[in-house]
Amino acid sequence: MQSDPSSSPPADASTAAAWLAASRALCVSTGAGMSAESGLATFRDVDGLWSKFNPAELATPEAFLRDPCKVWEWYRLRRARLAQIEPHDGHRLLAAWEARIPDFTLVTQNVDGLHHRAGSRRVLELHGRLDTARCIACPFQIVGLDDLGEDPRCTECGQRLRPGVVWFGEALPQSQLAAAFDAAERCDVMLVIGTSGVVQPAASLVDTALQHGARLIEINPHPSAFSGSADAFLRCTALSGLREIERHRP
Ligand code: OAD
Repeated sequence: MQSDPSSSPPADASTAAAWLAASRALCVSTGAGMSAESGLATFRDVDGLWSKFNPAELATPEAFLRDPCKVWEWYRLRRARLAQIEPHDGHRLLAAWEARIPDFTLVTQNVDGLHHRAGSRRVLELHGRLDTARCIACPFQIVGLDDLGEDPRCTECGQRLRPGVVWFGEALPQSQLAAAFDAAERCDVMLVIGTSGVVQPAASLVDTALQHGARLIEINPHPSAFSGSADAFLRCTALSGLREIERHRP
């Protein structure tokens, strides 16, 4: 059993705020926990998506080949959910920091587009976007949350459309990945928020930053793969951690 997330002010917030205020190059890496307070389920928490759904049946290229309608049905539900939710103030704070810190990169594993909706522009979306669909055969893609139907087809070539996300066993978008690792190498502070740190290659960004001498700040109500290496661990939710850091801004 996981313990209840603490909402009490994290002791490390003032230290983290001082490091962030002095940072010339910040890399922020977010996972599903960043969106939890907007109302989206995470994957590996007790009530997470992977406790109810089998990723092998829904989030692999093989699953899509076997049963595209079933895969699309799950993605249709997730796309519909996106239309009902909003970014929270934590997303908006990160968007504001982008203007303050000279070299700022936000890397996310999230496919919900909430960072963009909150105003962030320097965002690398390593796992794609729920609100896109692309052709399995040609470069055609559709952006938007329109209902595409049970088994949508490409208007250019007639082949099947698939969700524009990265599935297990697939390569990540190369240019985004390379830019993310560049940012991890350059940064003097790495801030990691709401990820369990078990999915590669995103998890390696933190190791890369540490190897290049960055300080590591983590915000997560539960320990993750990174917590033992964190210089400051704010054991609280994304929203309360980011608010606390902002409150302590020197
Ligand atoms: P996980 O579900 O693995 O981890 C979510 C993390 O968020 C956990 O460490 C939680 O403790 C933390 N958390 C929960 N509520 C939080 C809150 N309110 N504030 C902050 N943190 C909170 O999600 P990811 O690490 O993002 O990939 O998962 C990585 C990838 O695995 C996903 O992008 C997805 C999934 O399979 C694909 O589908 C390819």
